[in-house]
Amino acid sequence: MILLDGKKTANDIKNEIAVKVANLVAGGGKKPHLAAILVGGDGASETYVNAKVKACNKVGFDSTLVRFNANVSEKKLLAEVKKINDNSDIDGLIVQLPLPAHIDELKVTEAINPIKDVDGFHPANIGRMVLNLPTYLPATPAGILELLDRYKIETSGKHCVVIGRSHIVGAPMSILMARNNNPGNCTVTLTHSRTKNLKEITKTADILIVALGKAEFVTADMVKDGVCIIDVGITRVKSDKTKSGWKLLGDVAFDEVSKKSSFITPVPGGVGPMTIAMLLKNTLVSTDKLLY
Ligand code: GUN
Repeated sequence: MILLDGKKTANDIKNEIAVKVANLVAGGGKKPHLAAILVGGDGASETYVNAKVKACNKVGFDSTLVRFNANVSEKKLLAEVKKINDNSDIDGLIVQLPLPAHIDELKVTEAINPIKDVDGFHPANIGRMVLNLPTYLPATPAGILELLDRYKIETSGKHCVVIGRSHIVGAPMSILMARNNNPGNCTVTLTHSRTKNLKEITKTADILIVALGKAEFVTADMVKDGVCIIDVGITRVKSDKTKSGWKLLGDVAFDEVSKKSSFITPVPGGVGPMTIAMLLKNTLVSTDKLLY
């Protein structure tokens, strides 16, 4: 079994990006600049956005964090998006999701100028992804492709099973693994909460990508020997074995499933760090207005 070390790979990518930024600046170019909008004080979102800002600083980007209270109006949020769209110093913009229920997430996503949409969530960019055109790929799926690529995992002709059909991970992942690309060229089965006989399907997976958000959902009896496991889940559960009283669990029962795996991502330290690295990569690309 080989551990897919997302922490190390993400650090390698960050170092590569830092060198590119230094060269860009040495050549008289401007630093890439990422703006992030955070609405409300949701703990997980706060942690993710802070990690994104910290990562920007580490590689030499400029960053701007705009915070709103949870009760901010949709109109005010849309006005801020427009202001950032029109600010030529800012290259990339993300609005951290989820947003409070009174705000229409799609409306906000559609308001972002697609050329600044470094999350790759705008319908125009999702369309470009489906058509295999140059675009920003959503960061978590892009991070998974990068791990498969850097660990030279063969995907062509393989059966890839994805569990979960979220707009951020499962749905784009299923499209990317089926595209005529490397990594890609898989036969893909996208499974979700209405899927019947899930275990019969997962047992035929060469590559199993799990993104449903249920701790230790995938057990050893659900996979075949030699499977490659990509675990996107991250759930905080109480533990009397850690100092903090908490531990993080993936969607896969790691101890038992890793024994049957050829490759597996740990949680934490697998897919998570890759997400931020790929957001940085998209932001670097966003300084080059010739993407499309
Ligand atoms: N919420 C969970 N993942 C993401 C992400 O990748 N981008 C944004 N903007 N919000 C998220």
